[in-house]
Amino acid sequence: MAKVHKIAELPGDGIGPEVTVEAMKVVRAAAETFGFDYETTPFDFGGDRFLKTGEVLPDSAIGEFRDFDAIYLGAIGHPDVAPGILEKGILLKIRFDLDQYINLRPIKLYPGVPCPLVDKGPADIDFVVVRENTEGIYSGAGGFQYKGTPHEVSTNIHVTTRHGSERAIRYAFELARKRNKMKQLHLVAKTNVLTFVHDTWWRAFNEVGEADYPDIERQYAHVDAACMWFVKNPEWFDVIVTDNQLGDIITDLGAVIQGGLGVAASGNLNPEGVSMFEPIHGSAPRYTGQGKINPIAAIVAAGMRKPPRASLNRRWRTYSAAARSKTSARDGWATPPPKSATCSSTK
Ligand code: IPM
Ligand code: MN
Repeated sequence: MAKVHKIAELPGDGIGPEVTVEAMKVVRAAAETFGFDYETTPFDFGGDRFLKTGEVLPDSAIGEFRDFDAIYLGAIGHPDVAPGILEKGILLKIRFDLDQYINLRPIKLYPGVPCPLVDKGPADIDFVVVRENTEGIYSGAGGFQYKGTPHEVSTNIHVTTRHGSERAIRYAFELARKRNKMKQLHLVAKTNVLTFVHDTWWRAFNEVGEADYPDIERQYAHVDAACMWFVKNPEWFDVIVTDNQLGDIITDLGAVIQGGLGVAASGNLNPEGVSMFEPIHGSAPRYTGQGKINPIAAIVAAGMRKPPRASLNRRWRTYSAAARSKTSARDGWATPPPKSATCSSTK
């Protein structure tokens, strides 16, 4: 009997549900075209459920997710819930507990999408950020002392392990080899200030590269300089590897040069386990229910899941590209305004 691919569907908050509907239509069309079976199981974790029940995401849900082939997430964040509760309690909890140690974020300008950079086109903006996804300053380590007093002390600790940085670095070297574009990997960090944690990254990067990837050119950029080059010379990049927080920040800049947050997709990958796919934008409560949000990011995120059979790989890529351009033309997304809030579809 053919395998049925089990997808856990978490539409989440704000615009999450409306972009998820569009992404699932493309998954359905792909299943019909390629003849694979799948089923989705909805989960209502998010701000509304938290406000009603006080429950964020129980450990039992993590246990359930382990039985799925993939998780699809819309967006997390609710205006009536204090910052951090849902983000840490749902999104980061899933990433950490399922050990989704890679956050893969392609920065690709599609043809026909307006780019805010002067004289840059699709050939110039086509690189991938490999963001380490389980440690760094987002690990949750830290706390308060004397909170609320004049002597208040607060810390967030940048937790870096050789194991965590090295597995992200190895993934990125492999990707640079597989892309076979410039055969180049940039480490983006701040070795001149974070002389402990980024020294671990620096040594791992060079040792791994020298021992196992002599065919891949190693480049380094301080994060502040990298931001400048994203704007000035985005064509210099092929694959970038960086830590959790720097990856979070530079991929919003990356999203803007690829046409806006409505276009930028990501995969939280556990190459040996269950991965989660999501647009990188947030829940944009201001635009909820207006049918204005470009769902392309959500659609591309859904397409980042490995095709169910490896032999479908090439046809899948062709199909995803065709789906993107067809959908764009049909619904007027080919020329979205530079901001992410644009058009939507109900077909
Ligand atoms: C992202 C988001 C999240 C992150 C937040 C919502 C926790 O900004 O996926 O980029 O920082 O990772
Ligand atoms: Mn972010």
